[in-house]
Parts: sequence; structure tokens; C-alpha cells
Amino acid sequence: MVRFSLFLLLLLVSVMAKADKPWQDSPHGPMLERIIPPGFMPAMLPEPKSAGAILTRRYCVQCHNLANPAMHDVRRWPSVVARMVPRMEGKGNMGKLMADMMAGVEAPSPTDEQVIVAYHRKHAQRPLDPKKLPDVNMPAGESFRVACSQCHVLPDPLRHTAVEWPLVVARMQKNMEWMNRVVGSKPDPGEPQLKIEDINSFLIRHARR
Ligand code: HEC
Ligand code: HEC
Repeated sequence: MVRFSLFLLLLLVSVMAKADKPWQDSPHGPMLERIIPPGFMPAMLPEPKSAGAILTRRYCVQCHNLANPAMHDVRRWPSVVARMVPRMEGKGNMGKLMADMMAGVEAPSPTDEQVIVAYHRKHAQRPLDPKKLPDVNMPAGESFRVACSQCHVLPDPLRHTAVEWPLVVARMQKNMEWMNRVVGSKPDPGEPQLKIEDINSFLIRHARR
């Protein structure tokens, strides 16, 4: 009996996981799964009851894991969303691949798109201002500058405290592995190496107090 309910539970969990990630049934599932790392859950969206959060939960989880609005800065979001909407409308530029991928996907109206963009901008990443922090262009800032600008703008060290930064950096290492970017796990003379100690010491030195 216990074993049977365990089986039912596992079945339920796997059905729920599928409903959560509709792209997993697509022939391009593994590719789509890697676009955005898992871990940022819909319940973690800021202002969860706002129209922006509700629309984001509805439209932005159809093809890949949910992106954190704090991933990109204010300037970047409009172009990212503008790249996603035609895909949702089935007007992707990769021909058959896009058609396969986008079957059954719902697209937002122009008004809803504006609400989604405004929401992402409101909760966006704050970029580092090199005028206020010229150290970033010194040798001490190099590892941070190179590693942390690969997927989004260079974040402002004031965003987190000295205690928080190493945890964020550890999560970013996972993001890098997930998204298949440079991780420096195997030394490769052709690739910039990830120097975690240098990155952390730079961020800790300039962290929020
Ligand atoms: C119809 C499928 C589809 C939907 C729905 C979709 N995306 Fe994407 N998204 C993609 C594809 C394909 C890529 C990878 C290629 C690329 O980056 O353009 C991607 C990549 C991304 C990236 C990583 C690339 C980058 O520029 O940082 C972010 C962030 C992103 N999407 C955000 C969103 C948001 C926000 C929404 C909701 C408005 C959304 N996506 C809805 C297909 C989709
Ligand atoms: C492989 C791509 C990638 C690289 C490289 C990367 N990030 Fe990120 N970053 C992400 C993604 C995806 C998110 C949104 C999901 C999340 O927060 O984990 C994000 C979000 C963030 C955020 C906003 C969320 C928060 O907790 O404040 C900060 C700050 C950040 N990254 C800092 C960094 C730093 C510092 C580095 C360099 C060590 C770095 N990132 C390198 C992909 C990357």
C-alpha cells in the first residue's frame, strides 16, 4: 500500500513537472531547458499580485525557465521582450525549429507587452557606473569585469552586502555551468579563467555597508 501511494505520488509529481515546463515535450526540450537556469520560481517574482507579475507568469514560462527581472538592466529589457513576442506570435526567424517550438504558445497583446516591459524595468538590475567606481577598470577589477558581463550588464556592487555577494557569485557559477558559458573548470589557455577569489574580494571591498 505504501509502495503504491509512493508510485502515485511520483506519477503526480512528474505530471506536475511536465505541466510546469511545457517545452519539455518539444523535440527541442534540452536546448530550451538551458536558455535560463532553473531556480527562480514564479512565487519569487517581486510584487507577485501586480498585473506585471501575473502577465510574466502567464507568458514568460512557455518556452524556458522563468527569468529573474533583476537579470537585465532598464535599458536592456525592452529589446529582450521585443525579441520574445514575435516568437510567441509564431514569427520566429529560425524556420522549422521555431514553428515546432512555438506550437500552442500564447502571445500577449501590445498593451500586455507594455505592462510586462514596465514590470521588468521596475525590478531591473542596476548597472555599475564606472565613473563612480573607476577601480573596475584597474587590474583588481578585471576578473569581475570579464566574468560578470557575459550574460547581463556588470552589476553594481552596492546591490548586495559583503555577506551576500559570495552567495550570489556561487549561484552565478551555477548559472554559468547551466548556460554553458566559460566556467574555468578545466584550464584552457584560450579562455579567460574564472577567478572566484578575485571576484569576491572586489565585490566585498565595494559592497553595500
Ligand atoms: C515562444 C518561446 C519563448 C517565449 C514565450 C519567451 N521566450 Fe525568452 N527566449 C526564447 C528563446 C528561443 C531564447 C534563446 C534565444 C535568444 O536569446 O533570443 C530566449 C531567451 C531568453 C532570455 C535569455 C537571453 C537574454 O537576452 O538574456 C531571456 C532573459 C528571456 N528569453 C526572457 C523572456 C521573457 C521576459 C519572456 C516573456 C515576455 C520570454 N522570454 C518568453 C523563447 C521564448
Ligand atoms: C551564464 C550567464 C551569467 C553570468 C556569466 C553571470 N550571471 Fe548574474 N545572472 C544570470 C541569470 C540567469 C540571472 C537571473 C537568475 C538568478 O538571479 O540567478 C542573473 C542575475 C544576477 C543578479 C541579480 C539577482 C540578485 O540576486 O541580485 C546579480 C546581482 C548578478 N547576476 C551578478 C552576477 C555576478 C557578480 C557575476 C559574475 C560572477 C554574474 N552575475 C555572472 C546569469 C549570469
